[in-house]
Amino acid sequence: MKLSGKVAIVTGGSRGIGKSTAILLAQHGADVVITSKDKTNLENAVKEIKNAIAIVGDIRKRTDVENVVKSTLEHFGKIDILVNNAGIFPKVKPLHEISEEEWNEVIDVNLTGQFRFTKAVIPHLMKTGGCIVNVSSNAGLKSFENFEADAYTASKGALVLLTKAWAIEYAKYKIRVNCVCPGIVETDMTQPYLGNEIDRSMAVAEHPIGRIGVPEDVAKAILYLVSEDSSWITGAILPIDGGSITK
Ligand SMILES: NC(=O)c1ccc[n+]([C@@H]2O[C@H](COP(=O)([O-])OP(=O)(O)OC[C@H]3O[C@@H](n4cnc5c(N)ncnc54)[C@H](OP(=O)(O)O)[C@@H]3O)[C@@H](O)[C@H]2O)c1
Repeated sequence: MKLSGKVAIVTGGSRGIGKSTAILLAQHGADVVITSKDKTNLENAVKEIKNAIAIVGDIRKRTDVENVVKSTLEHFGKIDILVNNAGIFPKVKPLHEISEEEWNEVIDVNLTGQFRFTKAVIPHLMKTGGCIVNVSSNAGLKSFENFEADAYTASKGALVLLTKAWAIEYAKYKIRVNCVCPGIVETDMTQPYLGNEIDRSMAVAEHPIGRIGVPEDVAKAILYLVSEDSSWITGAILPIDGGSITK
């Protein structure tokens, strides 16, 4: 029970990587808060997670984010861990076809959303120390041919460097900040790109280890980064991508 007595917030905890992470952290003894915007998805997910509560909130709204933090404190009395995982993937199109509204939407969820949650949680972590894990992407580390998702790339690249900035900024409060950068993981987000055998084998071919990821691949790394096993690690950027960025 690596996380006995710890309280964790997992954003985007209703589906995919976030849900898998919440399940694993709870299995290791943490009290978990999952949050996301769709009430039905969230209520379905929380039934599968022991020691968890669900708090609905749209990461685009500061008041919702503050309410998640306030409700967590009312329920569990403290916060030790924040997993900044909520995210969206835009409609794929070249830069010159993206509208400013489409750009802003992705940045609002994937980048400003992580800022909002981190800003709301940090004052509580500063009291006792704690851990933050940012969920970026290997698309935040390298550009990929035919990956026309510029706002996504910008949001994920920014999150990589913000991880390092926050790690240094808050090390004096014993707050560790690390980042995971998944390759293609099978979730609702990637389903539209894995629909037929040709697309799927092209996706697999991107990953030298010979398969795409499953949410548990990422959840296990997050568990390590929020547990005492990684107590001397902060500011680390960890690709979890079957070797994809090494190509
Ligand atoms: N899957 C991949 O291949 C992959 C690769 C690299 C990085 N990532 C990153 O990993 C993270 C999780 O991705 P995933 O594949 O698990 O995605 P997913 O299955 O589509 O789940 C996304 C989660 O984010 C939540 N969310 C979206 N917009 C939100 C908003 N405005 N407010 C609050 N919650 C919101 C969703 O909640 P609702 O149920 O309410 O919509 C859902 O819980 C993302 O940051 C993604 O960029 C994924």
